[in-house]
Amino acid sequence: MTNSTEGRAPFRISLCASARHGSGKSTTSDAISEKLCIVSAISAKLARQNTGHDVGDGQKAMVDRFAERKGHENGSRSHPPNCVPLFTKAGRSWNKDTMEIVILVKPFWKTEVDMGRLNNKTAIITGGAGGIGSETAKLFLKEGAKVALVDLDQDALNDVAETLEEHGKVVVIAADVANEADVERYVQEAKEKLGGIDIFFNNAGIEGTVAPLTEQKVEDFDQVMAVNVRGMFLGLKHVMKAMGESGGSIINTSSVAGLSAGPGLTPYVASKHAVVGLTRNGSAEGAGQNIRVNSVHPAPVNTRMMRSIEKGSRPEDAAAAKAEYEKRVPLGRYGEPNDVAQLVLFLASDEASFITGAQYVVDGGMTT
Ligand SMILES: NC(=O)c1ccc[n+]([C@@H]2O[C@H](COP(=O)([O-])OP(=O)(O)OC[C@H]3O[C@@H](n4cnc5c(N)ncnc54)[C@H](O)[C@@H]3O)[C@@H](O)[C@H]2O)c1
Repeated sequence: MTNSTEGRAPFRISLCASARHGSGKSTTSDAISEKLCIVSAISAKLARQNTGHDVGDGQKAMVDRFAERKGHENGSRSHPPNCVPLFTKAGRSWNKDTMEIVILVKPFWKTEVDMGRLNNKTAIITGGAGGIGSETAKLFLKEGAKVALVDLDQDALNDVAETLEEHGKVVVIAADVANEADVERYVQEAKEKLGGIDIFFNNAGIEGTVAPLTEQKVEDFDQVMAVNVRGMFLGLKHVMKAMGESGGSIINTSSVAGLSAGPGLTPYVASKHAVVGLTRNGSAEGAGQNIRVNSVHPAPVNTRMMRSIEKGSRPEDAAAAKAEYEKRVPLGRYGEPNDVAQLVLFLASDEASFITGAQYVVDGGMTT
């Protein structure tokens, strides 16, 4: 792309640009200087057209593009739905001898931050390194929330956080949800680091041992209760205190096993029924502070937990166990973590502002 003007050295702009669609980090458009927008506007236009322009055209393009962007902000021009062009400047260099400016930019379309369903909200997710927790974290981040992930193992948390950081701010806290001191610590730390707690996905859980009721060991029963019931109770206790009068939304993870029998999983079934009681009482006592408390009840979901239950149910043929479980779901398949995450997102958002004390199935029709 060159522009030769009589008596002056050729002026050349080289662009190295990559484009992608989807959400980027939750940078607000206001944080982007107009200057960068202008540079990016030329770059984007040129990159998109993937053809040469002289500087005069480039300047015109820049002005057009900037006006278009401003127009969009004022709601007067059309763009892809709910999108605003943002650009990350990756680097720039100037070569005096050749009069060459090299601009490295990475233009991308970003869902407008104002459109995020959890924009400016903060969330704690327990079991955040697990299948459902990490998927929900990703969705929350994409919708504009800042997220604290709580789980047992620091390394596992770090690994998950690494995959999520491109979507927004993630804090990780290693803690045992069954231990009250740990719970107080994760609530305090999350509140300080995120600047408050608006959403609590009370989700950590274990499946226990698969065995007939008559063969279940007391220590296994106690362990399931410690995590799935005590852990959930402690989370409610300390998060509700921390939310105080500001209100918030709490989503407790139960299961279809919290609504009906699940042969072979007595401790788990008992613990997930207890979650309904905790949810009901939490919602009754939290309503005065505008704290909503609901529970979600997934059918089998494709995560580590189902692999463990399949193996426990038929050690010699886990694949056959999976096929049997799938047959019990009218829609004929397991849920995916994102199926649960979408429901949790709805309950976490202001769209659910009149919903509390409710049990929501996400079960492919399994409990109908
Ligand atoms: N996967 C399913 O089929 C299914 C169905 C219905 C409900 N659920 C529920 O969904 C929730 C998430 O399960 P998942 O499927 O993502 O399983 P998962 O095993 O992938 O995730 C559970 C996470 O909880 C963490 N955890 C366990 N004990 C903990 C403790 N004491 N303190 C802190 N963290 C702890 C684990 O380390 C793990 O990362 C659980 O409550 C589970 O009972 C799962």
